[in-house]
Amino acid sequence: MIPIRPRRLRATPAMRRVAAETHLHPAMLTQPLFVREQITEPVPIASMPGVVQHTPDTLRKAAVEAAEAGVGGVMLFGVPAYRDPCGLGAVDPHGVLTRAVEDVVAEVGDALVVQADLCLDEFTDHGHCGVLDDAGRVDNDATLVVYAQMAHVLAEAGAHMLGLSGMMDGQVAAVREALDPAHADVAVLAYAAKYASAFYGPFREAVGSTLTGDRRTYQMDPANRREALREVELDVAEGADVVMVKPVMAYLDVLADVAAASPVPVWAYQVSGEYSMVEAAAANGWIDRRRTVEESLTGIVRAGADHVLTYWATEVATWLEESRHG
Ligand code: PBG
Repeated sequence: MIPIRPRRLRATPAMRRVAAETHLHPAMLTQPLFVREQITEPVPIASMPGVVQHTPDTLRKAAVEAAEAGVGGVMLFGVPAYRDPCGLGAVDPHGVLTRAVEDVVAEVGDALVVQADLCLDEFTDHGHCGVLDDAGRVDNDATLVVYAQMAHVLAEAGAHMLGLSGMMDGQVAAVREALDPAHADVAVLAYAAKYASAFYGPFREAVGSTLTGDRRTYQMDPANRREALREVELDVAEGADVVMVKPVMAYLDVLADVAAASPVPVWAYQVSGEYSMVEAAAANGWIDRRRTVEESLTGIVRAGADHVLTYWATEVATWLEESRHG
């Protein structure tokens, strides 16, 4: 006699559905989108099959598709035509990202949370996330001054939420101060635990990054778990509305820790390399693409994410709607 049989709750699709501890919903997903200056057709990103650098027109269409699929938001990244040491394009009210924010807010601003990346790496010619000092090091405090200007410009353009991805110390406080009081309702998404990761590889192509070297003096060491809680605590104290862990698949322990400790919502970023690995394996027929995508997202939510940035957001939202009606 075996009285206790966990298989009972796995016996049928209906039983499994009521027994599921984790559910995905389209509103839990944000679609990252790239927009590139001075192109007339979308440009495919070779290392991210299915992802493109958008023109203003196709960006608007992608935002509409995301909204129609029910996703929660879009995160916009700008790819400028010109770069300089200070990242001036980032603080230009007519810059590529600012205009993208205006366009997307005008198109779908009521349906989606329109988020913009607040960082200098797309705009600097050296590719670092901040400005450099005379010795060529990333100058934390000088960078905060530029972040504050960028925050103002993006808020003026209508962004609902700013994604602070630069990993400068004090960046949340600097941005919050720049936003208040004129833009007190603009939310801060703090990339609190962002690691210096090889999984960002394809993103570098997506934004045409010119970086040589690495970001290890400002992004976190993949060896560190406890330190993530310190970063979260600081960002929350500085006024972060949401904290994020990034990347995620190799950092699910960090995500679970942060989810247990954070008083604010915890988001996760399933980054470019995580996307590309699955796409490449699926293209070779080595894994089932849809099942792998769904399983990866289920795992992220199970580990504690309230919301996920993923390049599959619109597609997964469409699948979820189909299976609900289907
Ligand atoms: C920096 C930024 C990066 C990503 C998002 N914001 C690149 C980096 O830190 O090197 C990576 C996202 C991804 O890999 O999908 N602005």
